[in-house]
Amino acid sequence: MVKAFPKGFFWGGAIAANQAEGAYNEGGRGLVQTDVTTGGTVNSPRYTTYIDKDGKPGKAGGMGHHARIPEGAKYAVLDTEYYPNHKAVDFYHRYKEDIALFAEMGYSIFRLSISWARIFPNGDDVEPNQEGLDFYRSVFEECRKYNIEPLVSIWHFDTPLALEENYGGWNNRKLVGFYVRYCEVIFNEYKDLVKYWLTFNEINNTTMFLDMMGNKGTDADYQAGYQQLHHQFLASARAVQIGHRINPDFKFGNMICGITFYPATCDPADILANQHKWESGIYYCGDVQVKGKYGTYAKRLWKEHNVELDIREGDLEDLANGTVDMYTFSYYMSNNVTTHDTDDKVAGNFSTGARNPYLTYSDWGWAHDPRGLQYYLEKIYDRYEVPLMVVENGLGAFDTVEEDGSIHDDYRIDYHRAHIKAMADAIDNGVDLIAYTTWGCIDIVSAGTGEMRKRYGFIYVDMDDEGNGTMNRSRKDSFYWYQKVLATNGQSALEE
Ligand code: BG6
Repeated sequence: MVKAFPKGFFWGGAIAANQAEGAYNEGGRGLVQTDVTTGGTVNSPRYTTYIDKDGKPGKAGGMGHHARIPEGAKYAVLDTEYYPNHKAVDFYHRYKEDIALFAEMGYSIFRLSISWARIFPNGDDVEPNQEGLDFYRSVFEECRKYNIEPLVSIWHFDTPLALEENYGGWNNRKLVGFYVRYCEVIFNEYKDLVKYWLTFNEINNTTMFLDMMGNKGTDADYQAGYQQLHHQFLASARAVQIGHRINPDFKFGNMICGITFYPATCDPADILANQHKWESGIYYCGDVQVKGKYGTYAKRLWKEHNVELDIREGDLEDLANGTVDMYTFSYYMSNNVTTHDTDDKVAGNFSTGARNPYLTYSDWGWAHDPRGLQYYLEKIYDRYEVPLMVVENGLGAFDTVEEDGSIHDDYRIDYHRAHIKAMADAIDNGVDLIAYTTWGCIDIVSAGTGEMRKRYGFIYVDMDDEGNGTMNRSRKDSFYWYQKVLATNGQSALEE
């Protein structure tokens, strides 16, 4: 049988507001965590900056909610630091040029996120910020001009910083109400422009970080993490219900950081540890958001860390009534799970644990494993039987600009070709996969390291890690390759 992608399959790319837009203090936007986060590298962390209670500037290691700033300190932008997300790649001012390039590649879908702090700068404002609403209206209209379907992440790691400072972030149940209000506003505002919505980007990162080797999560960390997740599940479920009332055609997806876990050996202890890793890392969130209930293993997970979840009356009904219509996920790598000591470890973001001798690794230590994508697709589809979307997949790599301006990124082409073939194999095996949006269709700031030189794009952006560059866009070899793939509905990649 000849493998093929179904007619109407969505092809495109994906970005996130805080990594692409820049203009961090324009248009009435409030601050988010990345605005107070420095750049880092694969070997050195990003830092969160603050002014302590005595007025002294300081930096805390570990980005996002993993950075613990001292008691009484306030997040602050310091003159002495460079913050890569402040300018990012200036999508805020250049979106027309960028969307035109996406259209030139032949996109039928473009995944982007709305910055909550552009709509509600402090998160709890009474009225939304009109400039923010106008900006995204104009972006979505630009997409529609080229028949590109916007796929909108409502939250991509960017809770307004004021909600972190004044309410303690997602640990506070009030955040559910603020998020739902934000959703109601954008659903009403864009109901005729946007159909596909994702509630929380990589929602399972919370449990992944808690379990990550080397990160000694305390019981208090687990208590906080699981409680935050319960609030996000509720927020997602209520948003889905309201969204479906506002426009019954809306389609909602969850968004999972999809990592394929393998047992490193055939020792039954490794097999079981691997199964438990799927439960805590992947299924915990997927089950709540797709099946509408906590998995049977959840009680064990809570017990292991003495977690007492505050689940109130009506919460479980909300979870059951607010299930998503499709399962969407990012896929970059697989990971080996073992109960044995091993010296041969890898340590690149979530690509931790025992090295897999059958795979190669990127310069940032991420396992290159297209078969792992097929495995993930088949396993997840069998579990949930709802349409799937791969909404992030890509290779972060160093690119060289030749004297004539060309960029020969065969490594990136090889990476995507192999993953596209793996998707076709999964479809051939019965999986209802409906979309593929590659990560960082254009170079953007890395979430993990804050680098620009970790490039994912098919479009090059002239900007370095210190903020130097013209921001000019140029087409890499992968641009022309992907254009052909899209023109043939994937066939050209399958035949190479
Ligand atoms: C995903 C995130 O984890 O991976 C993106 O949703 C992120 O925001 C992407 O950029 C790639 O990770 P990184 O650290 O290479 O930017």
